[in-house]
Amino acid sequence: MEHRKLKAFPAGFLWGAASAAYQVEGAWDADGKGPSVWDVFAKLPGKTFQGSNGDVAVDHYHRFAEDVALMAEMGLKAYRFSVSWPRIFPQGRGEPNEAGLAFYEHLIDTLIAHHIEPVLTLYHWDMPQALQDEYGGWEDRRIIADFEHYCVTLFQRFAGKVKYWVSLNEQNYNLTNAYQLGTHPPAVEDRKRFFAANHIAFLANASVIATFRRHVPNGLIGPSFAYSPAYPGSSAPADMLAFENAEELTNHWWLDTYCFGRYPQAALTWLTETGEAPDILPGDLEILSQGLPDFVGVNYYQTLTYTGNALDGVTLQRINTTGQKGTTPASGIPGLYKTMANPFVETSNWDWAIDPTGLRIALRRLASRYALPVMITENGLGEFDQLVAGDRVHDDYRIAYLKAHVEACQQAISDGVQLLGYCAWSFTDILSWLNGYQKRYGFVYVDRDERDTRDLRRIRKDSFHWYKKVIASNGEIL
Ligand code: NOJ
Repeated sequence: MEHRKLKAFPAGFLWGAASAAYQVEGAWDADGKGPSVWDVFAKLPGKTFQGSNGDVAVDHYHRFAEDVALMAEMGLKAYRFSVSWPRIFPQGRGEPNEAGLAFYEHLIDTLIAHHIEPVLTLYHWDMPQALQDEYGGWEDRRIIADFEHYCVTLFQRFAGKVKYWVSLNEQNYNLTNAYQLGTHPPAVEDRKRFFAANHIAFLANASVIATFRRHVPNGLIGPSFAYSPAYPGSSAPADMLAFENAEELTNHWWLDTYCFGRYPQAALTWLTETGEAPDILPGDLEILSQGLPDFVGVNYYQTLTYTGNALDGVTLQRINTTGQKGTTPASGIPGLYKTMANPFVETSNWDWAIDPTGLRIALRRLASRYALPVMITENGLGEFDQLVAGDRVHDDYRIAYLKAHVEACQQAISDGVQLLGYCAWSFTDILSWLNGYQKRYGFVYVDRDERDTRDLRRIRKDSFHWYKKVIASNGEIL
């Protein structure tokens, strides 16, 4: 516990909650929407827990007014949501689908009418299947123009209404799963292709940010990064070096490229030696350096701990893709680093390290390296919630998690970090990409499971009432 007086949360702090189109909307083929890669992938045998998919999800598409009414009741100051690209361009490009635009316009107008700031994410993983089929999505430079066309359509339509924009959500996590682990579409396991796809995504991100300046001059834009700050397993020099290596290759690779417009030097040297570095064409670095963000969005869930020792049999906590609790064998890049369990932190029932101090560290590292404001675009706890008699969900474990992380935010603010807001993940329960509906994050329970959509009733969890008080007191009552 610290003895100094903490700074108060600033006036206008964006107390928020977040979601993503595929995870909440449902209505997967309604009103002219085209399929996304997830609409196709989740229906392939064995890809997701019990074959769960987002066809219905929590039906936010049809129930958004009810959801926004709950947000208003809670006093939410900001709601982060994503736009589904194939809802706007069913084929990925061409003429926009007016029904898709109208849906988001209604959502945005309803939020504004309730004094809730919309935070719009342009891309949260639901690539139009048409573009994946035509040229392989992020693996082809044609995506840069198509992504820009889609984004400009949204800039033009919503510039006067939406101030905060998130460009790409968790490019690092999504493309790691898509091109290294083979667990997200297109399910490739190839490091060369992984870095190539990332390079094109960086170019698309920077191009869109540069264009944004012309269309939304008073807006703010930045990517959301899945930030797991690295810790060394010990103070042994070999572990310290492994930690530095991991920080460079798992974090700076993305953050430096977004915020400085160039790749970190050591990592680029290693990848050039292994032949895995992306092809950087003349003009690429100019594009990167002309599209720097206004803020860094951080999705914080956990820290990761690294060792340089040959620790055979060490286990690590990482996303469990089978829907079962358990650990997976250590991973890493041979000779550079290996992950290991951190004996000093507890883990959730999904084996994710629970480390609020890591959030304070994350915020400080970002603020001092990049000197940019930060917005927490996601933070939350996935758990197996129980609906009990009287329509109650006693998620005291979630309250404890969020309280500790909000405290870490206040400590970081007191350390001088310019924090724009805190968006808890998530507002309602959502579909977990691979883990179905058993892994719940929301303040609002949604009555459904993998097999049965039941009535999709919304039920306020205990954490709903807790967060309402936090917001009303601007973080004084935690
Ligand atoms: C980050 C992703 O952006 C979100 O879609 C996901 O559900 C959460 N992490 C939890 O895994």
